[in-house]
Amino acid sequence: MVRIKYLNAIVELNDQVYEPAEDSFLLAQTALGITWDGMSILEIGTGSGFVAAVLKANRNVTIVATEISPFAARCARSNGIEVIRTGMFTGLKGKHQFDLVIFNPPYLPTSEDEKVPGWLNYAFDGGIDGRKEILPFLDQVDSFLGQNGTILLMISSLTGIDQVIATMESQGFNSRIIADEKCSFEKLVVIEGKHKKKK
Ligand SMILES: C[S@@+](CC[C@H](N)C(=O)[O-])C[C@H]1O[C@@H](n2cnc3c(N)ncnc32)[C@H](O)[C@@H]1O
Repeated sequence: MVRIKYLNAIVELNDQVYEPAEDSFLLAQTALGITWDGMSILEIGTGSGFVAAVLKANRNVTIVATEISPFAARCARSNGIEVIRTGMFTGLKGKHQFDLVIFNPPYLPTSEDEKVPGWLNYAFDGGIDGRKEILPFLDQVDSFLGQNGTILLMISSLTGIDQVIATMESQGFNSRIIADEKCSFEKLVVIEGKHKKKK
């Protein structure tokens, strides 16, 4: 069993869950920099629960996560994260609104022959342009954000940074890159979105 220790968190993995990588580390560090005690946080697609576990280990926050893969949901639960096994926001209806919603989506452009077998495909497959899961996320996230709520979205230069920012702006968010990292063939960025108009 693989065990990762990072910023006071310990996370154990199984072989059918996304192994935290540069994107997960960058998102966890960035999220930590903008969270404070008492915040309520939603993580979409928590995978092993790594990012949520880092936040929980360092801040007195409440975190709920969703995850589409049953293997990942089980893994995150075993790492102490409250997980609803559901697609995107579906199982959250009736839950309260959150101060922060974070998502490290499958963001890689993926053709039919690049798909990986089983549930792990959900960790990587961003559809033909890398934005397959990002667009429904941006369509729905507003209903789950409280007043002055913030989105943190991890993407890559391969996903189309300008296109994602343009979509966020058109959905009513002031959007800017607040962290980036060069990573072999791509650049990873964390985009922060905040409501243009307060609710
Ligand atoms: C790139 S991995 C990131 C995992 C983890 N958050 C991290 O940063 O290490 C994307 C995760 O999102 C999940 N996922 C993909 N599409 C989803 C959807 N529509 N609803 C919920 N989870 C989804 C995948 O199963 C996978 O665990």
